[in-house]
Amino acid sequence: MRMVDIIERKRDGETLTNDEIRFFIDGYTRGEIPDYQASSFAMATLFRGMNKEEIATLTDSMMHSGDVIDLSSIKGVKVDKHSTGGVGDKTSLALGPLVAACGAKVAKMSGRGLGHTGGTLDKMESIPGMRIELTEEEFINQVNSIGIAIMGQTKKLVPADKKLYALRDVTGTVESIPLIASSIMSKKLASGSDSILLDVKFGRGAFMKTFDSAKTLAETMVEIGDSLKRDTRAIITDMNQPLGLAVGNALEVKEAIDTLNGHGPKDFVELVRNAGSIMLQQAGIAKDMDEGFEMIDNAIENRSGLEKLKAMVKAQGGDESYISNPEQFPVAKNIIEIKAVDAGYIERIDSLEIGLSAMRLGAGRETMADKIDMSAGIVLSKKVGDKVEIGDILAYAHTNHDNFASEVADIRHAFSISHETVSTNPIIHAYIKK
Ligand code: URA
Repeated sequence: MRMVDIIERKRDGETLTNDEIRFFIDGYTRGEIPDYQASSFAMATLFRGMNKEEIATLTDSMMHSGDVIDLSSIKGVKVDKHSTGGVGDKTSLALGPLVAACGAKVAKMSGRGLGHTGGTLDKMESIPGMRIELTEEEFINQVNSIGIAIMGQTKKLVPADKKLYALRDVTGTVESIPLIASSIMSKKLASGSDSILLDVKFGRGAFMKTFDSAKTLAETMVEIGDSLKRDTRAIITDMNQPLGLAVGNALEVKEAIDTLNGHGPKDFVELVRNAGSIMLQQAGIAKDMDEGFEMIDNAIENRSGLEKLKAMVKAQGGDESYISNPEQFPVAKNIIEIKAVDAGYIERIDSLEIGLSAMRLGAGRETMADKIDMSAGIVLSKKVGDKVEIGDILAYAHTNHDNFASEVADIRHAFSISHETVSTNPIIHAYIKK
């Protein structure tokens, strides 16, 4: 078999055989197929697409390109959740402990943030002492004993994706549904959960810009999960404004703690309740949405979710007193009020602009080598639909930098204000399951 023939067949819109796809992934992972052929293959795939069977084979061969975690020694149904990335997305930190408090087993591998989106691992590291690198044995033991562990992906998980994603990033081939779907699902499947809930976001701050493209991606991933016998479901959620109020590492952890104390922002609570209810159904613990809502509400009210977060932090070496007393988190030396210069109703809050501004205030990285300032970020005071008068505070910028004028201007511009009243949409636009 020759790689050039496979590239030409995909270029001409033909359907590849399972053997051809496996030949490519195996050869590329071993370094036998060069980057120039892999990038040509990625471009041909971007233009020509793949059918369901090709995508399933691509995912399966990527998944088996490295370690596949065996979680069978964990008793009970293992549930996992993955977000395609957004701004202010601290969902795992509230949702994971809540579903674990209701009896599900949460064995989750997360990533770091890059560019305008944050990562769960960075947020967790704002808690002093928190270890995010666990051995497979520690990970499994922790889930068995307390019901939840969140760790970084091991280096040997899906090496094919590490190479291919880095290549796609610099060859204009990221935006291909078969390549995105197989990249995400190969990592989720290799990390061993029995069921997966995908939160596919759309809007300015998200990977997918429109509802329709998010829906196609979600349906493709649910199909892959189903063909590989995992209960995979998806929700499609709105990123046309940041999620909740806080954007930035320690600020978001504090908001997750507030939520577990029953004081979460409305849109974030709505997302957590819905995602939680679905995950409890996937785990076989709740029989329908209503029962799941009731369980999640109880776990907030009786603080068992908060206790679960504390237990996880303690088990991973973190200082759990930060969860009981979040005022210990470092606070930036400058907290700048950003005021409205127009009156009306908030129509949109550009998540991309907010995410990029938070990054420039110190909360994120432009390259993987950059260091994060855990205290930096943005806290919104207004959300879409809210009424504002001139001079009302729209948001606070938190930074240790001394020059912040351009970020302040960008944050103000991120708010679009209408003279008409603005209706608000539910955060969840669709729920997809087989
Ligand atoms: N996230 C991934 O992990 N892979 C992609 O291809 C895109 C987003």
